[in-house]
Amino acid sequence: MDRSMDGKYCIVTGSNGGIGLQVARGLMQRGAHVVMACRNMAACEKVAAELREEGLAGSCTCRPLDLESPSSIHAFARQQAAELSGGGPQEDDGSRGAATGWSHDGRRRNIDVLVNNAGVMGVPPAADGSDRHLTVNHLGPYLLTRLLLPNMTHGSRIVNVASRAHYGGSLSLITGPSGGAEAVRNDTHHWWWQYARSKLCNVLFTAELQRRYGYGSNYASGCSGGGADANTAARGADVSSGVRNSQSTTAGGGIGSPISGGGIGAFAVSPGMVDTGIFRHLLPGWAQWLRAPLRPFVRSPQQGAEVVLFAAVSPELEGREVLFLHDCQEMRPSAAARDAQLAADLWRVSAALVGQPEEGGIGG
Ligand SMILES: NC(=O)c1ccc[n+]([C@@H]2O[C@H](COP(=O)([O-])OP(=O)(O)OC[C@H]3O[C@@H](n4cnc5c(N)ncnc54)[C@H](OP(=O)(O)O)[C@@H]3O)[C@@H](O)[C@H]2O)c1
Repeated sequence: MDRSMDGKYCIVTGSNGGIGLQVARGLMQRGAHVVMACRNMAACEKVAAELREEGLAGSCTCRPLDLESPSSIHAFARQQAAELSGGGPQEDDGSRGAATGWSHDGRRRNIDVLVNNAGVMGVPPAADGSDRHLTVNHLGPYLLTRLLLPNMTHGSRIVNVASRAHYGGSLSLITGPSGGAEAVRNDTHHWWWQYARSKLCNVLFTAELQRRYGYGSNYASGCSGGGADANTAARGADVSSGVRNSQSTTAGGGIGSPISGGGIGAFAVSPGMVDTGIFRHLLPGWAQWLRAPLRPFVRSPQQGAEVVLFAAVSPELEGREVLFLHDCQEMRPSAAARDAQLAADLWRVSAALVGQPEEGGIGG
């Protein structure tokens, strides 16, 4: 899997610690430029300075992103679009020449890898009672990805950091007067089931990304699929093993779609049980020491990052629509995660919830 990522442009959300930091390091080791998209800029700048001091082949910049804030997500996407189209980083942040938003000849660049890593577990609901697991772990990354898709192209990859917790997740959508799904039913108030549901959403989102923009999609040729509508294509896809090779076809393209069509790799991954700060909401500060005895039985953040890096860089995955990976191997996701209709409905509901059209029309 040690493909050189020399000069590749990668975005990793939540990379100021835990698995995301190790993913950023791994990409930099391979020569990539990494945009570290974080909500805590002080923490981001601190670890970015440490990464630069390691003398890795690549480079990094910190950019603010709060996945609970639609305005922050839009601002991040606008900033990326500006930097990729030649504006370049706005300040001297230690990034180097060709590894930044510019190519050598000053032309527009694409996003080569987007890692939707940031996530929360065990958080209380928002002030309005909404489930923050759904917001941070699914809706935020959904909006971010859609806003960034116009900066992706054939060969770009999207890695959604999901979890085996999705096997316990269930998703129920509320049907509106029109008969279509309109909202996510908030039918559980326990953090574990909310987390599991959000991770199920990660896999379903990945499945729908594959169908719309994946290796089998026809955007590149501008072909609208001979009239096959989205749901027909979704139902027709063989998702029984979690791997699809079908030539799914959808109408689309234009703004909100990849720059030059489909051929985008989308993968959901499970890092295993990893010793990170994600458990901090479950234990009060004084009790964090209780994590120590468990360390021999859980993975280090570096080990947890392995499958994420595999999905981001491995040539073995080129052209393969693997839906879910654990231990760098394909793993059959849950039946709910393989429900193509549910994936299509979740896409539509998510678009409505983040205030965007189902197709196209999206700009930073
Ligand atoms: N650790 C595990 O055992 C495990 C297992 C399966 C899957 N995962 C998944 O792995 C991913 C990474 O988690 P981790 O274990 O590395 O946890 P972590 O150490 O807590 O890292 C999570 C990252 O997400 C960021 N984040 C949280 N809320 C955010 C928001 N609203 N906007 C932007 N960034 C936000 C955090 O930033 P702050 O520092 O500002 O909070 C942090 O950088 C998550 O998606 C998680 O579900 C973890």
